Amino acid sequence: MSSSRTPVIAGNWKMHKTIAQAEEYVAGLLPRVADVEGLEVVLCVPYTALQAVVDSTRGSQLAIYAQNMHEAPSGAYTGEISAPMLTELDVHGTLLGHSERRQYFGETDRALQLKVPAALEAGLAPMLCVGETEEQRLAGDTERTLRHQVQEALEKVAVDRLTEVTIAYEPIWAIGTGQVATLEQAQEAIAFVRALVAGFDKDAAQQVRILYGGSVKPENAAELLALPDIDGALVGGASLDPASFAAIIDAARS
Ligand code: PGA
Repeated sequence: MSSSRTPVIAGNWKMHKTIAQAEEYVAGLLPRVADVEGLEVVLCVPYTALQAVVDSTRGSQLAIYAQNMHEAPSGAYTGEISAPMLTELDVHGTLLGHSERRQYFGETDRALQLKVPAALEAGLAPMLCVGETEEQRLAGDTERTLRHQVQEALEKVAVDRLTEVTIAYEPIWAIGTGQVATLEQAQEAIAFVRALVAGFDKDAAQQVRILYGGSVKPENAAELLALPDIDGALVGGASLDPASFAAIIDAARS
């Protein structure tokens, strides 16, 4: 991690936790993060539990994000949720382009090109996920894939707002598999993503936070977070339990 960028540890609950389970979790996590400083802690919560979690974490250092958002403010888009619906709940930000959205629900780079600026415009912090499949990595297509994803998604973002976007590099083969990227793979891909941001603006590239995601656990967090270009972690499975999520937060503090 670099001392010039505030690190982010984000938990992505995915399709886990009812309101009751979410409240129990928050009660378990809050005392464990009460004295966290110099670090942003984010929870990406299912829509149905957002209001409850925003309310029960108000005044704490936790930032609450949605897991997706439609690009239009309103309209005939059955089953979708817009930025004004999220800001009304005092949600702080949203994940965008998570690989599970891309893989299972047809999320496209073209839609993300509208979603990222729409989130910023509405006052929501966008956390943009990018990453290659195992096939793409084996075929030597990692850089080409990342270039396409980053360039498309950031194309319509005003240069002076680029630093408000957090990017999460998540190799798809490492998500939920227990097969974490090697330190070299993670550092190399994240440095490459930073270079892509420099293609838009050199100063912004030095300030933008880029996280690693994919099988981050309490046991491997410290060594990943020690890498110079990695500004934090996006954590799925290991964020579902407050003790293991807090252990990852502790790894970022030390
Ligand atoms: P994982 O998920 O930590 O369970 O691999 C990461 C993610 O999908 O954000």
